Parts: sequence; structure tokens; C-alpha cells
Amino acid sequence: MAVDHQIPPEGAAADWTIPQDWARYSDAEHRMWDHLFARQAAMLPGRVVSEFIDGLDILRMTKPGIPDFEELSERLMKATGWQVVAVPGLVPDRVFFEHLANRRFVAGRFIRTPEQIDYLQEPDIFHDVFGHVPLLANPVFADYMQAYGEGGLRADGMGAIDRLARLYWYTVEFGLIRQDEGLKLYGAGIVSSYGESVFALDDASPNRIGFDLKRLMRTRYRIDDYQQSYFVIDSFEDLLRQTAETDFAPLYAELEGLSDVAVDAILPDDRLFDRGTQDYALAKAAAV
Ligand code: PHE
Ligand code: FE
Repeated sequence: MAVDHQIPPEGAAADWTIPQDWARYSDAEHRMWDHLFARQAAMLPGRVVSEFIDGLDILRMTKPGIPDFEELSERLMKATGWQVVAVPGLVPDRVFFEHLANRRFVAGRFIRTPEQIDYLQEPDIFHDVFGHVPLLANPVFADYMQAYGEGGLRADGMGAIDRLARLYWYTVEFGLIRQDEGLKLYGAGIVSSYGESVFALDDASPNRIGFDLKRLMRTRYRIDDYQQSYFVIDSFEDLLRQTAETDFAPLYAELEGLSDVAVDAILPDDRLFDRGTQDYALAKAAAV
């Protein structure tokens, strides 16, 4: 999330936002959105948390073409008081937290090219909007995201942003949730990925471990490939209760004295849903 320079690029406002310029998308760009949308829409029923599908519906995201942020924000505002705003790319941590704390989700406006269809370095509009926005129509998840922003501003003052970033990573980006019928996806990094939306749920390779706040904030993560461990929450209400209603200051202090946990480690106290074989990661490592 971090960028070095703290001054917004030319053409951006002081809060780093830029116009989406929706009218400037080409037909090919709209078709790319439709292609990615159709691919995920075919994959996700039965795999993604029901609130995600509800969100697509509430926000009318099934409409073809790249969503217009004005229209999307109008619907989102009615549902939960959130908006979607465009930014040029990664923004400084404080800018990011500040937007979330004010119920604004920052999104890239560019869409991947055909060459980048399955692998992207920086999140594009498909990841940011398809992945993140549907759950913002859910009141509980919407409150979690705002609280996270407030928590980020606070963590910054305590030198704890790296800890808090792990929480975002293992919930907002790569979270799994337990529902009556079994585990489901809700993390944006998974639901916007063709490969990982199968891997995260069905592959024997990764660990699937019950959510534990302190454990999770000790755990490193991978930015270059599928995760080696996923964390499973019981419900969005439970996630909100364990985070928004908990003072993190004593936790950060306690974590100072504890070592990091490796991406594939299993600890004695872990509530295990699946002990992963790690075959996928091992094969990848062997191939290098
Ligand atoms: N309650 C946390 C704190 O005291 C902030 C937080 C809220 C973090 C929600 C994550 C999610 O700092
Ligand atoms: Fe994301």
C-alpha cells in the first residue's frame, strides 16, 4: 500500500483523488471488464459468501461495462453511506486510512490489458471494484472497513502499520468465512482472481486456520503468489466485534516481544480447518 513520495501527482487533488473520466474508456476496455466479470460470475456461485452476491445485486453491478463511479456511489450511499473514488495508483498509508475512515473506498481507474489477464502487479479497477465494492453494500462489513481506517490512523501513531496491514491482508484481501454449508470466499484478492478462487477453497495445498487476531498479526504473507495459509472468520459480526470493539494498543505492545510466524506454519493453538500439504508452494520453490 505504501508509496515513497507524499505529494499527490500532478492532476490529483490534495486527497489524491482524480476524476474517473468514465466516458474515456474504450470499447475494448469495457469488453475486458465484461469478460472478467463473466468468468468470475460463473465461478463464484456456491463459493463466495452470500452477502457478496447480494451486493452485486443491490449495486446493480451485473450491468455490462466498467461501472461509472458516480452511479455506483449513489447506490452505495443509499445502502451504507459509502462512496467509490478514483486514485492514480497506490496512495500513502495515511491517505488510504483517511478515506476509509470517511467511508470512501479508493479505486484504480485503469483496467488490465489482455497480456495481464491473470497476473497484475498493481490492483486494477476489476480487482478494486469487483473484488471490494460488493461487500461494502453490507452494513456490518461497511462498518468494519471504516473502523479499519480509523484503526490505521491510530496504528500509524504507534508505529504498528505493518501489524495492522496483516489484518487487512488476511481478512479484506484473502479472508475465508464459515457458513452453514461450509467455507466460503469473501476476500477481494481471492474473488477477483480466476485461479485463487478455486485454490483458496478446494486445493489441498494451503492451511485453513480459524481467525485469531494476535496470531494473524504475527503472520507474514506472500505478495507474489497464492497464499500458503488462509484464515477463517465465523461471521462478519464476529470479525467486527473482535476488531472494532477491541483496543489494539496493548496488543501491539505485546506483539513487540513475539517473533513473526512463517507463511506456512501451524501453531499448537491453531484451530485447524485444513492442514495444508503445501504441495503447490513446494513445487513452485523446486522449479526455481
Ligand atoms: N480497534 C482497533 C484499535 O484499537 C482498530 C481497528 C478496528 C482495527 C477495526 C481493525 C479493524 O486500534
Ligand atoms: Fe485490494
